[in-house]
Amino acid sequence: MSGVRLRAVQDADLAAIRDIYNHYVRTSTVTFDEVESDVDGWAAKKERIVALGLPFLVAESDVGELLGYALAQPWSPKSAYRFTVENSIYLAPAAAGRGVGRTLLEAFLAACRDAGLRQVIAVISEEGADASIALHRRVGFVDAGRLTAVGEKFGRDLGVVLLQLSL
Ligand SMILES: CC(C)(COP(=O)(O)OP(=O)(O)OC[C@H]1O[C@@H](n2cnc3c(N)ncnc32)[C@H](O)[C@@H]1OP(=O)(O)O)[C@@H](O)C(=O)NCCC(=O)NCCS
Repeated sequence: MSGVRLRAVQDADLAAIRDIYNHYVRTSTVTFDEVESDVDGWAAKKERIVALGLPFLVAESDVGELLGYALAQPWSPKSAYRFTVENSIYLAPAAAGRGVGRTLLEAFLAACRDAGLRQVIAVISEEGADASIALHRRVGFVDAGRLTAVGEKFGRDLGVVLLQLSL
């Protein structure tokens, strides 16, 4: 996609990543986090992800503005799950809806393959995440289940859908 560069995350990206994520923490049910994150938390998360050899990519505009990020985290600390990850993808609101998500997710999945991973699981809120569900299905994820009323945010019970991609 022209005008979008993809690369591994750097420490200098973490403040912009915090701002993108906190927007959705405050305003939406696409994340079940209710407390805003800080740069120290993101630095620790980045260190864990990089130490495990898992992908953490960012998309930036041709003038260096951070458009979004995609990352993988272990699905479970139990060792037999070592080739399975949960993914997460967030774009700045102004960057959504014009193909950046698909470009970023496809590059992220290629990086997952290169890292020797086998299964990627997306845990997506049933409420307000239609774009995410559409995006994941578009790149090949298939429905793998549904959990009802496992969260509560803004006073509402919320479920999640599970989508899975076999690499
Ligand atoms: C979810 C997100 C990453 C998708 O990225 P995006 O750049 O907006 O999506 P794209 O423009 O690449 O669209 C991908 C596909 O989803 C479809 N889509 C996009 N928004 C949609 C919507 N609101 N409803 C239905 N389908 C939608 C597109 O038509 C496209 O399908 P196509 O290729 O068949 O035309 C982005 O919108 C985002 O960051 N949203 C807020 C945070 C979030 O929900 N993160 C995921 C948490 S699980």
